Amino acid sequence: MKFKQVIPFLGIIIATIALILPMNSAQAEEGEPGATSEYCLSCHDSPGMQTTLESGEVLYLTIDRVIHATSVHGRNDIACGQCHTDIQEYPHRPIPAASRREYNLQMYPLCKNCHESNYDATLDSTHQKALAAGHPEAAICTDCHGAHNINEPEPPRSNIPKMCQKCHSEIYKTYELSVHGAALIGEGNPDVPTCIDCHGVHNFQGPSNSTSFHLFSPQLCAKCHADEILMERYGISTQVFDTYVSDFHGTTVVLFEKIAPDQETNKPVCIDCHGVHDMRKVDDPESHVIKENLLDTCQKCHPDATTNFPTAWLGHYEPSPTEAPLVFFVDLFYKIIIPVTIGGMAIFVGADAAKRISGKIGGKK
Ligand code: HEC
Ligand code: HEC
Ligand code: HEC
Ligand code: HEC
Ligand code: HEC
Ligand code: HEC
Ligand code: HEC
Ligand code: HEC
Ligand code: HEC
Repeated sequence: MKFKQVIPFLGIIIATIALILPMNSAQAEEGEPGATSEYCLSCHDSPGMQTTLESGEVLYLTIDRVIHATSVHGRNDIACGQCHTDIQEYPHRPIPAASRREYNLQMYPLCKNCHESNYDATLDSTHQKALAAGHPEAAICTDCHGAHNINEPEPPRSNIPKMCQKCHSEIYKTYELSVHGAALIGEGNPDVPTCIDCHGVHNFQGPSNSTSFHLFSPQLCAKCHADEILMERYGISTQVFDTYVSDFHGTTVVLFEKIAPDQETNKPVCIDCHGVHDMRKVDDPESHVIKENLLDTCQKCHPDATTNFPTAWLGHYEPSPTEAPLVFFVDLFYKIIIPVTIGGMAIFVGADAAKRISGKIGGKK
């Protein structure tokens, strides 16, 4: 490829660099090209360095020495040439890409040299599938971490959804207003899920690369909503899970997971009623499950449902004399009548048998 076109230096800078260049080359021959960042920075620290790619886009070539030095790599003495293994001295090999994005895509695999396990994890991610399917804008290492300014992904955890916000801004906005997002971003609460608790990190999963993602999603919620100690702090019932699994909707999903884990089911999972990224407190007027909105939610799958329909379902309540008294008393009735009937029968049969046996024994004597 010979599309490289350098338009580096303007005005005075052109003159200055023209003088400096041969000097640096001489230094390089004396020193050890590539072994130190100083060698590379002797040129790349100059302001205004740039080149034009075949696409017509400008590639800025100035690297701020302070940003590099204070990055996690600079602090760990990783020299420029350790990442840029294919550039050890000047002149460099030809630029390997025609556009900015193509350049990023060509370069990021260099992270693999030192972070192989993270790299391997991304191979199975939804982003890699999107890249392969012709979405060059899907996330690669440098979109989330940067290149020369990389640092430890530090707390607060509220930084994580911001990494995703760049490209998933609509979802971020929705999440920010949800019960989980508001607690994380607004209050710094560490107990609520951020994007990666549900989608994984590096090995990002979503409905389009994992057909069972939707079906298995209740297990994401169970991590926290079945945890009694955690939920007690918020006064939230953990029965939501038990009641869900034992009701007709959940039972079918649980059976389904066992029989045909990869197939679609139309049975509702938690997010069908509560929303995916917009789940709210159940008394929030925007909640999909607040009484005013509940019928609409059921109608997604029960189009003929009328106003009284939601009351046919017990929600997450166990039947009690106040919640669903009819079901409670029918339940209670059976709980009493069955043992009484069967118990009575047993006593009757037992007494009868005893009488016969003792009669027979008595007869023999
Ligand atoms: C003598 C000055 C000079 C030195 C020393 C130098 N570079 Fe460059 N570098 C340039 C110029 C000029 C360009 C513009 C493209 C070209 O001419 O290849 C460039 C482009 C680049 C690019 C972007 C384009 C590409 O080819 O990928 C990278 C990355 C790069 N240099 C890395 C380095 C590293 C790493 C070192 C140290 C091992 C280094 N450079 C040393 C002058 C220099
Ligand atoms: C942690 C690995 C790493 C280190 C260390 C590193 N680079 Fe880079 N560099 C990259 C990657 C990856 C790119 C591709 C650009 C992107 O995707 O943002 C890049 C791109 C560049 C470019 C092209 C312009 C740009 O920013 O895209 C230049 C010039 C460059 N590096 C020079 C240097 C110099 C000089 C140093 C040392 C002071 C250095 N690099 C240290 C990974 C690194
Ligand atoms: C030459 C080896 C090398 C290359 C190439 C490299 N790194 Fe690193 N990286 C390190 C070392 C060493 C550390 C600091 C020690 C550690 O935490 O593992 C580090 C730390 C990190 C951290 C912080 C780790 C933590 O535990 O918080 C991140 C994030 C990171 N690198 C991302 C990248 C990305 C993204 C790339 C590619 C653009 C890259 N690295 C390329 C060696 C490398
Ligand atoms: C879509 C965004 C995203 C992409 C793409 C991504 N990361 Fe990360 N990475 C994160 C997040 C978020 C964390 C913090 C995880 C946590 O706090 O549990 C992280 C953590 C890390 C860490 C430090 C913790 C650890 O697991 O060792 C390293 C190193 C790292 N990433 C390297 C990489 C490399 C290399 C690539 C590319 C192969 C990459 N990342 C791609 C978002 C991303
Ligand atoms: C550089 C842009 C970019 C960044 C940053 C990014 N993504 Fe993505 N993501 C995409 C693209 C492009 C797709 C594929 C097209 C689509 O579904 O929107 C995608 C798809 C996804 C999907 C799969 C959608 C499906 O239908 O299965 C999930 C899940 C996802 N991203 C999660 C995340 C998370 C979590 C983060 C932050 C840690 C993140 N992404 C950061 C660009 C990005
Ligand atoms: C509580 C768990 C949870 C959290 C937190 C979460 N998601 Fe999701 N996300 C899901 C589920 C479940 C689906 C699948 C929905 C379906 O099957 O219809 C999904 C779907 C997606 C999709 C693909 C479908 C679409 O709507 O485009 C993307 C992209 C995505 N999430 C990104 C994100 C990002 C970015 C964040 C953080 C701001 C985030 N998610 C936070 C559970 C979560
Ligand atoms: C068919 C619709 C539907 C499904 C499916 C569903 N929910 Fe609910 N959920 C509701 C309704 C309605 C309420 C409010 C009334 C109630 O508590 O029964 C509610 C209330 C809640 C509450 C608040 C309880 C409290 O103590 O304040 C949580 C938490 C919850 N659900 C989580 C879940 C989880 C987790 C799942 C999946 C395992 C799930 N829901 C499945 C409709 C549903
Ligand atoms: C990482 C833990 C975690 C995960 C995973 C999680 N949640 Fe939550 N959720 C919480 C916490 C903690 C709260 C209480 C937040 C508060 O009130 O500030 C909460 C609150 C809620 C509420 C509001 C209850 C109320 O007060 O009315 C609903 C509804 C809810 N979650 C549904 C879900 C669903 C559905 C899923 C799965 C898709 C899920 N959550 C996944 C931790 C989690
Ligand atoms: C995502 C789709 C979906 C949503 C949303 C949904 N249901 Fe269902 N529901 C079903 C399916 C499918 C069945 C059949 C289950 C089976 O046969 O195992 C069912 C069965 C029922 C039944 C048993 C009686 C019957 O008609 O078969 C009741 C009662 C019921 N749902 C109530 C509700 C209520 C109340 C809501 C709203 C809070 C709701 N459903 C929301 C899909 C849904």
